[in-house]
Amino acid sequence: MSAVESRAIRFHQFGEPLDVLEEDQTEVPDPGEGRIRVAVAATGLNPADWELCRGFMPGALPRGIGVDVSGRVDAIGAGVTDVAVGDLVFGSSEFAAQPSAGAADFAILNLWLAVPPGLDAVHAAVLPMVLQTAHWTLDLMNIKPGETVLIHGAGGMVGYAAAQIALRRGIRVIATAGPTFAGDLEGFGATVTPYGSGMVERIRSLAQGPIDQVLDTSRPNAGVITALIEIAGDPARVVTVSNHDEARREGARVNIDELIAAGRLPSSDCLVDYARLAAAGQLTIPVARTFPLTEWRSAAELSLSGAPHGKVVLVP
Ligand SMILES: NC(=O)c1ccc[n+]([C@@H]2O[C@H](COP(=O)([O-])OP(=O)(O)OC[C@H]3O[C@@H](n4cnc5c(N)ncnc54)[C@H](OP(=O)(O)O)[C@@H]3O)[C@@H](O)[C@H]2O)c1
Repeated sequence: MSAVESRAIRFHQFGEPLDVLEEDQTEVPDPGEGRIRVAVAATGLNPADWELCRGFMPGALPRGIGVDVSGRVDAIGAGVTDVAVGDLVFGSSEFAAQPSAGAADFAILNLWLAVPPGLDAVHAAVLPMVLQTAHWTLDLMNIKPGETVLIHGAGGMVGYAAAQIALRRGIRVIATAGPTFAGDLEGFGATVTPYGSGMVERIRSLAQGPIDQVLDTSRPNAGVITALIEIAGDPARVVTVSNHDEARREGARVNIDELIAAGRLPSSDCLVDYARLAAAGQLTIPVARTFPLTEWRSAAELSLSGAPHGKVVLVP
């Protein structure tokens, strides 16, 4: 272990995030083979962080939160040859990172890419999880150019990313979203309608024909899969990233189930191009608010509210 000290937001037992998370002073481990350590510049929070606190990945504790990270390379593990100390990178820390993850002064990364010129550290830190999820889930759906996809929950950042990627692939996008990002989504080329009461009828009338597939990226909310199957006409044409249990019951597709069945991890290759597009202003993942690390509790509350309207970012 190195003598470097780091503040880290960690949980020592499983439970509701605001009950179990605390700010600790930790020793930072050396990166180890094939990994790097960064002095964290920014950490994008994700709903997955809260699921980790609740026990989504059992295992030894304490553990940290914050999978999406950007920072300056501070130490390089054995066998790593593609970065130098001082480089600005973004990427991912491990899901079950010990003793801490990205919500800390220092983080160990097992995936990293250079932050391209034109992209700042905060906007780089929010890219990995939502873009990778949107990209590989759309790959899984294999929608052809010219076909129509309904993206339900496009005001959430996975859906917002998926809408941009699908449009880039020449797919017609109908999206549900609240008022915050409806204008952005329309600007990208999507047809947008609010979620909530009357949604099924509104979507049918907007589609003026069949909807080939439905991608559900809405935060878990009961009854949504039934409504989406009604729109698609067939459970096999509905894929969810979030409403897992209802989808399994109703015969719809769950992205991670198919990944596990195929026995493979999603590739991160797509992030190189997406970071370049983000740097050029041709793809965007909006930041709702940045918080200093000391205000992690307020950041967590905003993310947990279910309506953060953009990414919530911690800046040490
Ligand atoms: N399986 C995977 O691979 C994977 C990976 C990443 C994330 N996920 C899951 O995907 C879900 C979305 O993640 P995210 O990062 O996109 O979340 P997020 O950005 O925190 O989404 C929150 C936004 O969703 C919208 N929303 C709230 N209630 C809604 C409802 N009932 N119906 C439709 N939209 C609603 C709101 O925006 P507006 O009101 O402005 O529209 C809100 O700001 C989470 O459950 C997450 O755990 C799964």
